Amino acid sequence: MRKFSDPLALREYRKSCQESVGFVPTMGALHEGHITLIKQSVKENSKTVVSIFVNPTQFLEGEDLEDYPRKIEADLKICELAGVDALFLPTIDAMYEKDELSIIAPKTKGFVLEGFHRPSHFDGVLQVVLKLLNITTPTRAYFGKKDAQQLFMIQNMVKHLFLNVEIVPCEIVRETDGLALSSRNVYLTPKEREKALSLSKSLKYATKMIMNNNKKSEDIKSEMLSILKETQVEYVEIVDHQFNRLKEVEIGNTIILVATFVGTTRLIDNIWI
Ligand code: PAF
Repeated sequence: MRKFSDPLALREYRKSCQESVGFVPTMGALHEGHITLIKQSVKENSKTVVSIFVNPTQFLEGEDLEDYPRKIEADLKICELAGVDALFLPTIDAMYEKDELSIIAPKTKGFVLEGFHRPSHFDGVLQVVLKLLNITTPTRAYFGKKDAQQLFMIQNMVKHLFLNVEIVPCEIVRETDGLALSSRNVYLTPKEREKALSLSKSLKYATKMIMNNNKKSEDIKSEMLSILKETQVEYVEIVDHQFNRLKEVEIGNTIILVATFVGTTRLIDNIWI
């Protein structure tokens, strides 16, 4: 596995790859969810590039930028074992100028749900993802469906800016008890982890209601909120694949989303119906 910290050196490496390149951007603290993305990339491409960069511009004032889990030694081993060809580990200075160009997420869809509760978060995500895609120029880039709105923002950026890359959405990976994998799960105490199960339980219950033909968003949201009552809910929302709010679930075109605090840890989860 080759390692690069210089963006231009990675670009030279990329030029030397004649065939398809898959790219998995991450912020490190890799878990089974990331490994699934990497494995899919390894399967579908001749070469796989993974980046590990805790991007400061997507964290808001007071968020966990300093505390974000960093496990570089373990991450290196995981990448090696998973068959990664090149690992990109840039410094902040290598990625950003002092007087930096900014990108603003679309004014409506970029500022609802996650974008409402974390204003300017998507500006930072799009800024770094655009840089990473420009450095790596991959054939395909892999993103998890757990960050559903991030995935939607990136798909839109690729479309609007005519970027030459295929965005591949990957399924959410869960613990056996339903908890969606997240690098932030390490913040949870055993008691909080118990409470955190209410996210996947609420989504499971929503699915059950839909199967029983109760597709009204208001009914589903109110049942979900009662399952989530021991957490501090930021939002429970039902949207179509374009992130328009739905009054009623449309089978094949719906995402049910939840964002909530369990203690001081902010967790998100969703299900695609
Ligand atoms: O999903 C993440 O881990 C990050 O938002 C990403 C896409 C690597 C950009 O920093």
